[in-house]
Amino acid sequence: MKTDDGSSREMRSSSYHTPVLLPEALELLAVGDGGVYVDATLGGGGYTEAILEASEGAQVYGFDTDPAALAFAGKRLDRFGDRFVAVEENFGRLAELLSERGVQRIDGIVYDLGVSSHQLDTTSIGLSYRIDAPLDMRLDPRLPISALNIIASYDAPQLKQIFKMYGEEPYAGPISRKIVDAREKAPIETTTQLAEIITHGTREDKRNETLSRVFQALRIEVNHELDSLHSSLEQSLEVMKNGARIVVVSYHSLEDRIVKELFKRESSPAFEPGSLGSLKESIDASRVRLRILTKLVTPTSEEVARNPRARSAKLRAAERVLHS
Ligand SMILES: C[S@@+](CC[C@H](N)C(=O)[O-])C[C@H]1O[C@@H](n2cnc3c(N)ncnc32)[C@H](O)[C@@H]1O
Repeated sequence: MKTDDGSSREMRSSSYHTPVLLPEALELLAVGDGGVYVDATLGGGGYTEAILEASEGAQVYGFDTDPAALAFAGKRLDRFGDRFVAVEENFGRLAELLSERGVQRIDGIVYDLGVSSHQLDTTSIGLSYRIDAPLDMRLDPRLPISALNIIASYDAPQLKQIFKMYGEEPYAGPISRKIVDAREKAPIETTTQLAEIITHGTREDKRNETLSRVFQALRIEVNHELDSLHSSLEQSLEVMKNGARIVVVSYHSLEDRIVKELFKRESSPAFEPGSLGSLKESIDASRVRLRILTKLVTPTSEEVARNPRARSAKLRAAERVLHS
């Protein structure tokens, strides 16, 4: 990236977050000559910048709930003037928030899910078990319930359920009981305290995997991540024009499953029971709302070597089909 003020901005952008699968996402988004696009996960603004650079007439609405992301990306994208519109809100309310801004139809949308490197590395919200920080995990500081509240108040079955459902953690039950026992002795307030409780008595070589799963589960619960994704993807289909493209980059199997299932369902003609009941079915092609553009795209080994955080990324892309 070449910038007006030289290499210093380049360094700041890449240290905030290095975009994953950017050339692949941009190509599949097929940004036209102008048009209205949505970057549902603005982060450091890497994707938005690439869209705005790819088309002189394009406008991008960039969503993020994290004020630090908005502040950083806002500065980076300042040179594009009103071609960039910041939306400091959750993409779970996509259609309503666009409509409030006078946008009824869009030419394309991209989601680069999860968290930025800046969010993982910052001590303020405690997303990583590798950094000692207060337990919080709220990507949106306006959310009422933090990881601290969950760890302090959910009972053992509730904790077990989230670790199982959102972390696919095989030892969800014993870990929940360890947390409940520990908090009776002293409040659990930091990432390090929680990590020590979770890994107490577990095999050294399994600790990181367990911690990744449990921390992921907590983050998903705190931020209602899967519900927002589900609802936002449904809404995106309502606002996409005929031929508009949707590109989604996800980082774990629970997110990818939601995208994959929606794409599959919306690209397959629905089978309706015919007049002779279940023996005869008719295909209703007018129900198809998406055309899948590619098989699953994953980063090259070169990208993963350059940027290890890309290793779990999975990209899916589809095109909206509208029937007149
Ligand atoms: C992986 S980063 C995006 C990086 C970006 N593509 C770039 O090039 O810099 C994901 C961003 O999405 C934001 N985010 C996650 N869930 C969100 C949601 N439901 N609504 C709005 N923003 C969300 C996070 O705060 C984070 O800044």
